[in-house]
Amino acid sequence: MAEFTSNSVEEYFKGKTILVTGATGFLTKVFVEKILRVQPNIKRLYLLVRASNPDVALQRLHTEVFGKELFKIQREKWGEKFSSFLSEKVVAVAGDVSLHNFGIKDQILVKEMLEEIEIIVHSAATVTFDERYDIAMGTNTMGAYNAINFAKMCPRIEVFLFVSTGLIPEEPFRMGQTIKTSSKLDISLEKQLIEEKLSDIQTRNANEKTITSMMKELGTTRANLHGWQDTYAFTKAMGEMVVTSTKGNIPLIITRPTAIIGTHSEPFEGWIEGVRTIDFVFVEYFKGAITSFVGNPEIILDLIPVDMVANSMIIALLVHSKNNSSNNLIYHIGTSFDDKNTEKLRMAIKGVGSVEREFNLDPKSIDWKDYLMNVHFPGLVKYSMQPKM
Ligand SMILES: NC(=O)c1ccc[n+]([C@@H]2O[C@H](COP(=O)([O-])OP(=O)(O)OC[C@H]3O[C@@H](n4cnc5c(N)ncnc54)[C@H](OP(=O)(O)O)[C@@H]3O)[C@@H](O)[C@H]2O)c1
Repeated sequence: MAEFTSNSVEEYFKGKTILVTGATGFLTKVFVEKILRVQPNIKRLYLLVRASNPDVALQRLHTEVFGKELFKIQREKWGEKFSSFLSEKVVAVAGDVSLHNFGIKDQILVKEMLEEIEIIVHSAATVTFDERYDIAMGTNTMGAYNAINFAKMCPRIEVFLFVSTGLIPEEPFRMGQTIKTSSKLDISLEKQLIEEKLSDIQTRNANEKTITSMMKELGTTRANLHGWQDTYAFTKAMGEMVVTSTKGNIPLIITRPTAIIGTHSEPFEGWIEGVRTIDFVFVEYFKGAITSFVGNPEIILDLIPVDMVANSMIIALLVHSKNNSSNNLIYHIGTSFDDKNTEKLRMAIKGVGSVEREFNLDPKSIDWKDYLMNVHFPGLVKYSMQPKM
């Protein structure tokens, strides 16, 4: 492991150009906020937003990202200069990861991005467990393929970080690997099945509701056939396979967080967006819609605060850069199961000045009762249960 100093993170990100996909997402907001807070002297952040044109992308960034309470410390720090700081550092890119080159129409912008980008953080995904198979395949599998292909065209690329998911050994998937060893997975065949199903449904003049239901069912059936419990995790795993097998020489990091919940401490305690994973149960309980639920006290509920996930991503990028490694590295970011690689990240910054404290990625440091009762649940009520204006 390389040696680090208190300034290693700042030094690493100084003058860097980063592309982040899924920029309006929960996790990426926290990642972007932290990067801008610890190193305002990055060169540029290209933030890919699903939008029909750059104006809509910019508008979405302002309302759904920088306008959120999450950025209040940044707003206080910069005051009236916050807008000009953002204009200087951030470029809103209208795009869709399911398309080649993200479907970006402005070719001059594409050329600039290809020339400048040094780091790609690919986080865009559909996280709906029972998503339509065609949409999940397009976003989670082909989206990853399009992102790594974009990276391969960037001459200055240093690293590609793919945010994935899953409770599996901390090892890369091999192309065609399945969880059920008796089944055989061929991604081209899966795509063909989707096309055939869609054309079959269309010939029957099915309405949108029927198409959605049939495509959801197809996804669940194919996921279960190969041993995954849902379409989301299955299509993300296929995304890992295509990235790993087509990346060429691009240094790759894959992070696999478990169920991500509200901030533990940064930029402040308890920030969360929407109702996610197990929080659905808590919210129904708070509303009084359910008064109890059946659970197995022996089962480990693997939750991880979003700021620790963002910290892990940042430290993984740093460690990777110093080790100059071209191996794929998988980092499980959670609180139970296989995380030997993530432990190496924790060891790399152990005792390094303020880095260990400022980039806390050790879930063992969490007082879970205090965090859940006094931070996460109040945050859930404050940020996720208020009626929309
Ligand atoms: N949340 C968790 O518990 C969890 C756990 C493990 C792993 N992960 C992984 O972490 C990453 C972020 O998750 P999250 O919870 O932050 O998700 P999220 O809030 O739902 O954000 C997903 C982002 O992806 C964008 N996106 C979806 N389809 C797209 C497309 N076709 N083109 C461009 N952008 C698209 C969304 O844009 P719109 O705003 O337009 O929808 C949104 O910005 C994902 O890769 C997910 O698989 C999450």
